[in-house]
Amino acid sequence: MNNKKETQIIAVASGKGGVGKSTVSSNLAIALSKSGSRVGLLDADIYGPSIPRIFGVSGQSVTSNDGKSFEPIESNGIQLMSIGFVQTNNDAMIWRGPMLSQAINQLLFQTNWNDLEYLIIDLPPGTGDAQLTISQKANLTGTILVTTPQNISLIDVEKSLVAFRKLDIEVLGLIENMSYFTDDSGKDHYIFGEGNIDDFSEKHGIDLISNLPILPDLAKYSDDGRLFDQFENLPILSKKYEEIISYLKSRIDSLDRPDSLDTIPVVTE
Ligand SMILES: Nc1ncnc2c1ncn2[C@@H]1O[C@H](COP(=O)(O)OP(=O)(O)OP(=O)(O)O)[C@@H](O)[C@H]1O
Ligand SMILES: [Mg+2]
Repeated sequence: MNNKKETQIIAVASGKGGVGKSTVSSNLAIALSKSGSRVGLLDADIYGPSIPRIFGVSGQSVTSNDGKSFEPIESNGIQLMSIGFVQTNNDAMIWRGPMLSQAINQLLFQTNWNDLEYLIIDLPPGTGDAQLTISQKANLTGTILVTTPQNISLIDVEKSLVAFRKLDIEVLGLIENMSYFTDDSGKDHYIFGEGNIDDFSEKHGIDLISNLPILPDLAKYSDDGRLFDQFENLPILSKKYEEIISYLKSRIDSLDRPDSLDTIPVVTE
């Protein structure tokens, strides 16, 4: 990593809804945090925020010490920000304009992120305003694309990929989620098909970072707001995310980023 103190900002996108962006973003943040990094997670899904629920902090509301910026909500050492934390009394501040991109800008730039090494951004589905705003404003290190094995998901993720490339955003790699199911005897079943992702990654010249299994327990942990606990109980997940963050760290190290790059303002204590 560069000597310069710089926040690596990574957006998680998919194109298609429901493929696991929020789960992957959250697990990425958890894995990075468990590896000793200082991590923030921005929920850029303004109409369907899920980060508060996943971290079991729904109903909490952000505070502002200076009347201008928000203090992130902390959960297990991870700094979280979501429209879900901005309740009625803060509405005037966050919704100065009707634009979704303005709301995202405010969540990104008016949060007192504290000395982050990584900021993970959970994007909503689609290639619309949210993806555009984040691409143009967030000074991204790069993006990770999440897909399920089906062609229908790959068609949408391709649109997302094309949009990012048009904007000159580095695509760090692909994660195939819900790739296979391992039965009690240890046999893997590729329920949604096998091989599409290899053709896709070859065609577009993107690395397949990982393929994650279907883990019925994972949805339960997520619904109960206990995603943070799952790594101890689901060793396969823990192993997969160790591999993912080790890939990411070396991929980021190899990127040619300008030294003078200004990232989000870093607040130090
Ligand atoms: N590997 C997995 N195994 C089992 N369930 C999973 C897996 N990944 C995600 N899920 C579950 O699938 C559902 C959708 O996941 P998630 O909310 O992360 O998707 P999303 O892409 O963020 O959706 P949206 O497009 O609505 O934002 C959740 O209930 C989640 O717990
Ligand atoms: Mg989501």
